[in-house]
Amino acid sequence: MNKKRIRVLLIDDNSDEVRLIQEILKEDDTVKFELEHASQFLLGLEYLKEKRFDVLLLDLNVPDNGGLHMLSQVRTQSPKLPIVVLTGFIDEVTGTKAVQAGAQDYLVKEEVNYKLLARSIRYAIEHKRVEEELRTVNESLECRVAERTSALAKANTELRMKVAEHKEMEEEIKLLQTMTFAIVEAEDFSSTLGIVLRKVCEATGWVYGEAWLISPDGKYLEYCVAWHRDPKKMEEIKQDSKMLAFSPECGLPGRVWSLKKPEWMIESMVRRNFPHAEFCKKFGFKAAMGIPVVTNDEVIAVLTFFMQEQRDEDERLTRLISSVATQLSVVIHRKMIEDALRISEGKYRLLLENLPQRIFYKDKSLVYVSCNRNLAADFHIRPDEITGKTDYDFFPKELAEKYRAVDKQIMESGQTDEREEEYSKDGQELIIRIVRTPVKDEKGAVIGILGIFWDITEKVILQREAERSRHLASLGELAAGVGHEINNPITGVINCAQILLNKSSEGSKEKDLARRIIKEGDRIANIVHSLLSFTRPDSEKKNIINMHGILSDTLTLIESQLRKEGITMKLDISQKLPEILAHPQQIQQVFLSIINNARYALNQKYPETHDNKIFEISGEETTMNNNAYVKIIFCDHGTGIPAEMRDKVINPFFTTKYSNKGIGLGLSISHTIIRNHGGKLMIDSREGEYTKIIIMLPRYSS
Ligand SMILES: Nc1ncnc2c1ncn2[C@@H]1O[C@H](COP(=O)(O)OP(=O)(O)OP(=O)(O)O)[C@@H](O)[C@H]1O
Ligand SMILES: [Mg+2]
Repeated sequence: MNKKRIRVLLIDDNSDEVRLIQEILKEDDTVKFELEHASQFLLGLEYLKEKRFDVLLLDLNVPDNGGLHMLSQVRTQSPKLPIVVLTGFIDEVTGTKAVQAGAQDYLVKEEVNYKLLARSIRYAIEHKRVEEELRTVNESLECRVAERTSALAKANTELRMKVAEHKEMEEEIKLLQTMTFAIVEAEDFSSTLGIVLRKVCEATGWVYGEAWLISPDGKYLEYCVAWHRDPKKMEEIKQDSKMLAFSPECGLPGRVWSLKKPEWMIESMVRRNFPHAEFCKKFGFKAAMGIPVVTNDEVIAVLTFFMQEQRDEDERLTRLISSVATQLSVVIHRKMIEDALRISEGKYRLLLENLPQRIFYKDKSLVYVSCNRNLAADFHIRPDEITGKTDYDFFPKELAEKYRAVDKQIMESGQTDEREEEYSKDGQELIIRIVRTPVKDEKGAVIGILGIFWDITEKVILQREAERSRHLASLGELAAGVGHEINNPITGVINCAQILLNKSSEGSKEKDLARRIIKEGDRIANIVHSLLSFTRPDSEKKNIINMHGILSDTLTLIESQLRKEGITMKLDISQKLPEILAHPQQIQQVFLSIINNARYALNQKYPETHDNKIFEISGEETTMNNNAYVKIIFCDHGTGIPAEMRDKVINPFFTTKYSNKGIGLGLSISHTIIRNHGGKLMIDSREGEYTKIIIMLPRYSS
């Protein structure tokens, strides 16, 4: 039978003991112990290097060495070798220590016998094997733990980086958010940049920030706006900054502009950075950072930030602000364009607003889109309130329809139109000249109407006045020429008719004819007399007259007539009304003429009595063009004057009264008289409702 072989190295200097052990180990039937012996420790170590052994029997008391350190030497050299330590009887404690120090077992030499030794050797080998296995398992475990630990550490680092990245992003988003909110509120481009500077400084701890813009000629960077943590210092620094300008590649802003890249400057660079160097020295700035604001690959602004402490480049911060600047560049650019637009729009608006004309723009549905301030003021609204309104919102239906009809006609023809039109402002009727131009799109389609108009009422009145004066003058000349020629023969005719009347018998045909000749003759004489009043030289002396007095006198003449006709008189004239300088008879003639017209109109409307058969006369003091006037208003609620006649009623011989009831000279003579007194006669009337004759006469002042 093949015996199992166990190679044993024995390190022992005692030859008796060696022999004993050799003998003992021979006794085994199952195992073949192959024992080699080294009498010295170092020799034993040599053997171990050269050959493979299954176990080492080590005497701790060898001459060239001794003690437990031998164990560690053996373990270092042959870590897998099982060791059984041999000790003396008196030294058993050492055996225990040896086991603690790594031996697998120990034997007390005096007690050694075969059984013990073989068992101890087997035990040591087995023990070592288990130990080794354990170690291997341990090692692989440790290895795996180490692998896991390093994977964990890696994951941890990645996580930390991700957290940092996330934090950075969060910070960026927060900064962006606060800035975007603030920017939306900002009024113009420079306040937008001001906000960006402030927010960046507040978020990052930089003390001062400036924004630079490219000059209109594109050659320099010019100061735009700045922000300093200390508002007191701000003014001084700002003044210095305003003096600076940077060409491309010059100074921090210039370089950032040309390279389109952020730049960080530490103290030594800041000191050299001409022309900012002096500036930084003066205000104690030791670190600087420049960030470009880029849109469509174009730098539209450069932001520079300064700090009073020395600070090394912080890539994260540069990245953060650059990223914020990039994201804000679109908003900043938009604000820049809005600003430019606002300035240009402001210029045009200023131009429009300062024009005395009224200007409007209507879309193709004839809805107002915009207007200038003057037109808005007429409508008592703000210019922006006109949007969405139509003519119906501002004018009486009839007038609005008239305007819209013309607008439509212009839209259809596509031609500019200029005309005179009526215009109603605060119930006052004016005459305007209006130019309407169709607005066309790029394809030539009419998309709206641009209108511009101005008040020509005064001009038209003056023109009419001049025309009337010419008319009256020629009429006056004619009257003066023929007046006397007619007066004498008509007096003769009347006298002859009077003789005929006296001589003819009562009830005869002749008497009736003579009476009619006299009546018509009187009428001719009357007309001639009236016509002569246009040419009457103003030689009559003017008196200081009290309005109340002269009106009372006039009314006395006509009062009973009014009462008879059932007309209610309402007189509201204060005795204290200022006096005027005038020809009393002429003024009385005017009043009589107006009252007679009112009577006629009231009787026409109400042939019988009626509650509304009212005639009112009121008076007040007023001013016109800084001159004081006495104003008398005669108002009757009679037939009124149709609108189309209103301009004609003061023309000589214009009358609507038939059957010889009127000549048509009353108002024209009154108008001439009032004008000759330096006053005005105005007519306001609504057909079927009322007529107001307004007379203004200059107040007398001594
Ligand atoms: N108060 C009034 N209400 C309505 N119509 C009026 C009134 N006053 C004047 N008119 C209109 O104006 C016209 C001209 O008036 P004006 O006084 O000049 O002439 P007249 O009254 O017709 O004749 P006369 O020469 O006798 O005065 C009148 O015919 C009348 O149609
Ligand atoms: Mg009259």
